[in-house]
Amino acid sequence: MSPVRTVLVVGAGAMGSQIAMVCANAGFDVTCTDLDRSALDRAGEMLRTRMDSSVAKGRITAEQRDAAFDRLTLSTDRDTAARTADLVIEAAVEKLDVKRALFAELSAIAPTTAILASNSSSFVPSAMASAVSHPERFCNLHFFNPALVMRCVEVVRGPQTSDATMATATAFVEEIGKTAVVLEKEIPGFVANRILGAVRDEAIHLLEGGYADVEAIDTACRTALGYPMGPFELMDLTGIDIGYLVKKQRFADSGDPADAPADSVTRLVDRGDLGRKTGRGWYVYSDSGEKVAVNPL
Ligand code: 3HC
Repeated sequence: MSPVRTVLVVGAGAMGSQIAMVCANAGFDVTCTDLDRSALDRAGEMLRTRMDSSVAKGRITAEQRDAAFDRLTLSTDRDTAARTADLVIEAAVEKLDVKRALFAELSAIAPTTAILASNSSSFVPSAMASAVSHPERFCNLHFFNPALVMRCVEVVRGPQTSDATMATATAFVEEIGKTAVVLEKEIPGFVANRILGAVRDEAIHLLEGGYADVEAIDTACRTALGYPMGPFELMDLTGIDIGYLVKKQRFADSGDPADAPADSVTRLVDRGDLGRKTGRGWYVYSDSGEKVAVNPL
């Protein structure tokens, strides 16, 4: 059993809010914080809807739902929660300077025994661990979207991460009912996103080359390969800006044009068409969540 009892999740976006709920469902005391009160309110509403639906489907009882919400605090007061956290999971915006500043502040406040973890997949542990006072207690814990559903969590060791930190982080992942995939050596994107990225790049190449449209490519992935959703549907789910920022960073690091965001993705991001969260991305979404294929280019 891990020594973790109290968890702080920083960031109440799609990932942070569901990570916090997963931890609360597993019996941990969790605070999920965000600078933006309205983001916390939106997260609370979304989680309430998801949990109510789990009760309606008979997956959990109303008592289990209520007990989980009793263990979950949504707050703008990050520092009070940081003082007593055994584990901090950062799920803020994918910008390295923001994450480094956040971790520098958190490491000054959190107990000296606390593990600091990032949910980032684009930034490897060493890129952030150098900002904290105890880099041996830093690792990445990378969840997948939607975090309430997807079972995998990648546990990523940086060059300074201790064996004890890896053991605690891995035990914690199992305790929250997820499957830990351990990376003993860091590489940007880790395992799953690197494979996913290769599929996504090929899908965009086929689209931009005029070989097939968005719907045809998604349909092929679902019906020929057994994917639960096609690469364009998935980009709309995770947010087109997320993949765009990852690519931008990779291009900044490598200078290789092959790493730069695709033209079609850049156009969507410039237009603010970021997927389901803006109602329009590769597809257009109605208020009820139904999607219609459009030519996004
Ligand atoms: N949030 C929370 N729960 C959700 C959800 C969401 N956005 N969307 C669906 N669900 C839940 C449903 O409530 C349902 O729960 P139940 O089993 O208790 O009834 C369950 O998921 C199945 O949903 P549906 O029956 O409505 O639809 P599907 O069977 O098509 O499943 C899906 C939806 C789970 C999203 C499935 O399509 C899927 O697995 N898609 C692929 C997701 C994927 O590849 N994720 C990884 C993305 S990469 C990533 O996250 C990396 C990061 O760095 C960006």
